[in-house]
Amino acid sequence: MRALLTGAGNMGRAIRGALEARGDAVVGMTGRADRPDPAALAPVDVAFEFSHAETFLPNLRLAADAGCRSIVVGTTGWAHDPAIAAGLERLIAERGLRVVVGPTFSVGVILFTEVAVEAAKRFGRFPEFDPFIVEQHRRAKADRPSGTANAIAERMLPHLPAKRRALLPEGQGAPDPATLEVVAIRAGVHPGMHIVGFDAPGESIELQVTARDRSAYVAGALLAADRICADPDRPAGLIPFASLIGEILAGPAAS
Ligand SMILES: NC(=O)c1ccc[n+]([C@@H]2O[C@H](COP(=O)([O-])OP(=O)(O)OC[C@H]3O[C@@H](n4cnc5c(N)ncnc54)[C@H](OP(=O)(O)O)[C@@H]3O)[C@@H](O)[C@H]2O)c1
Repeated sequence: MRALLTGAGNMGRAIRGALEARGDAVVGMTGRADRPDPAALAPVDVAFEFSHAETFLPNLRLAADAGCRSIVVGTTGWAHDPAIAAGLERLIAERGLRVVVGPTFSVGVILFTEVAVEAAKRFGRFPEFDPFIVEQHRRAKADRPSGTANAIAERMLPHLPAKRRALLPEGQGAPDPATLEVVAIRAGVHPGMHIVGFDAPGESIELQVTARDRSAYVAGALLAADRICADPDRPAGLIPFASLIGEILAGPAAS
């Protein structure tokens, strides 16, 4: 596989290492200042875009100009910008791109979210089991709570009749009991931890997923690349990483 890395930061370097370790060719790795000639990069089978919302669309254009149709996008912070989202839709349509997107490429977190939803369906029937979410990440993380914690809360809420909203608690005093509390800890260099819990008078249940390092995100990004490259007939469009995992779950079990 010939891969282009747009983004030369922590994730770009980690993906490069994993690709080279399994014998794939890295045709280029671009940081902010690099604007290589796309013709010199071609052919490109897959691009990994892990950079910044500012460079996200120009990087996708660079990959398309190098003849790449399959792109794995891990970059966060652009999904709520209507101009970028519209630009992405245009680019996909004009250039026939298959773009896998995901706020997390951790397979563990995707499966954990499904487990949390199933738990909410069951514990939500028993009002004495009061649900909560806790997450912890490195001090320098830009957002709070994490996109993953928000996404888990949104998926759980419809199954929790006693909760009307999910919120990061602010200020002091007793919280509104109809709020599903999402608590964010920011300290040190922690790569990411999420807990979904249910607390009842006589017992407490906690489900927890903890990233050890970036390798879980790298493994998921490579899995996404392998699946779309193995399926050249897959049509152009936006492909949520969670839906690729759903395809694997719906398929035959691996031996
Ligand atoms: N979906 C997932 O599973 C997942 C996992 C981890 C990270 N991410 C996301 O992936 C992206 C990259 O993460 P990372 O840890 O590799 O970040 P990083 O180490 O900070 O690297 C950022 C890269 O983006 C480039 N860049 C372009 N414009 C930039 C700007 N205005 N400010 C800062 N950097 C800019 C940097 O260029 P220079 O090399 O020139 O500095 C660098 O190559 C982030 O959006 C992060 O949230 C997603």
